[in-house]
Amino acid sequence: SSTQTFKIAAIPGDGIGTEITQAAIQVLDKLAEVDGSFKFEYTNFDWSSKAYKERGWYMPPDGMAQLQKHDAIYFGAVGWPDVPDHISLWSLILPIRKDMNQYVNVRPTRILPGTRSPLSSCQSDPSTLDWIIIRENSEGEYAGQGGTTHENSPHTIATELAIFSRVGIERIMRFAFETAKARPRKKLTMVTKSNAQRHGMVLWDKVFYEVAEEYPDVEHDKMLVDAMTVRMVNNPESLDTIVATNLHADILSDLAAALSGSIGIAPSSNLDPTRKHPSMFEPIHGSAPDIAGKGVANPVGAFWSAAEMVRWLGQGKLDGTADKLMQAIENVTKAGVKTRDLAGNSNTKEVTEAVCREIGIVF
Ligand code: NAI
Ligand code: MG
Repeated sequence: SSTQTFKIAAIPGDGIGTEITQAAIQVLDKLAEVDGSFKFEYTNFDWSSKAYKERGWYMPPDGMAQLQKHDAIYFGAVGWPDVPDHISLWSLILPIRKDMNQYVNVRPTRILPGTRSPLSSCQSDPSTLDWIIIRENSEGEYAGQGGTTHENSPHTIATELAIFSRVGIERIMRFAFETAKARPRKKLTMVTKSNAQRHGMVLWDKVFYEVAEEYPDVEHDKMLVDAMTVRMVNNPESLDTIVATNLHADILSDLAAALSGSIGIAPSSNLDPTRKHPSMFEPIHGSAPDIAGKGVANPVGAFWSAAEMVRWLGQGKLDGTADKLMQAIENVTKAGVKTRDLAGNSNTKEVTEAVCREIGIVF
């Protein structure tokens, strides 16, 4: 029988990004070994803020071409206190998302067994909170247009231009409706701020209702982003699939992660649905300078992202394998092997080893 090889570009980045990427590779290798139908071949890229401080660049000029040779990208985190965050973000992660046409960012949120939501309504029934946030990942508020005039003067003017294209909105809406349709509740909530922002957000609303016509079996509704934060806290069970702009979904998904127990468990997939470019998988958290180097980072968000990478690479053939990785993670949290952000007392290495052991058992 033939073993399929997936070429992975690993970009550990900064701080706990390096710790959790190493942990994720350990878990991925264990999964491949036990499954037997595929293996991973990694190229490690040392693109980070540390490298930038030493040599003056994050990515080499042919960086995108190097990434393009891979089936997927596994990303840790980028950013460090000695480099302004807009430089680190705009030198690495944002250009990759844009150049690789990763116009969808998928962010699932659930309460894992053995963990606790700060919401009292979720404590008796954790299934109350089970969401997928679909974030527009290529334009909107993070399009990068704008400029600064009269810099370093009392009269400085800066503009930040949000870009909303019909093509960009339509494709994210279609992806969101397809996602909602594939879930048991078939329910989609669209978020904008079309009362105060009367152009781009109004186009979002318009295209949402147009695309909705193609999905009569998906129940859909619309929320303003401010009211959405209240609904997420007070009525988590009323939500299922959520679609929002780059900025809004960035913020709402951090809130979602906190409501599910910790930002340390939250995964994300940056997808190019056309599959012309490699997609990128990363936990949603950053480099966490406050805990970096201590070996205590929660690797669960990194493992969950790894499971989503396996699902994506398998194109339907490895869903069972990805589900088994999730089962292994959940068995470990249920048994109380958790890092301190989840009120546990295990370290990164202990959680990683426990998940690897559990992978051996669930298969
Ligand atoms: P952060 O996510 O790094 O940390 C926020 C808080 O959550 C910290 O107290 C941290 O200790 C905790 N935390 C995060 N991940 C954790 C984990 N896996 N286990 C346990 N605790 C965890 O966000 P922050 O502090 O705003 O940003 C730090 C740096 O990371 C900045 O330079 C920022 O620009 C960058 N960043 C990068 C991202 C990326 O690469 N996609 C995303 C978010 C931030
Ligand atoms: Mg964020």
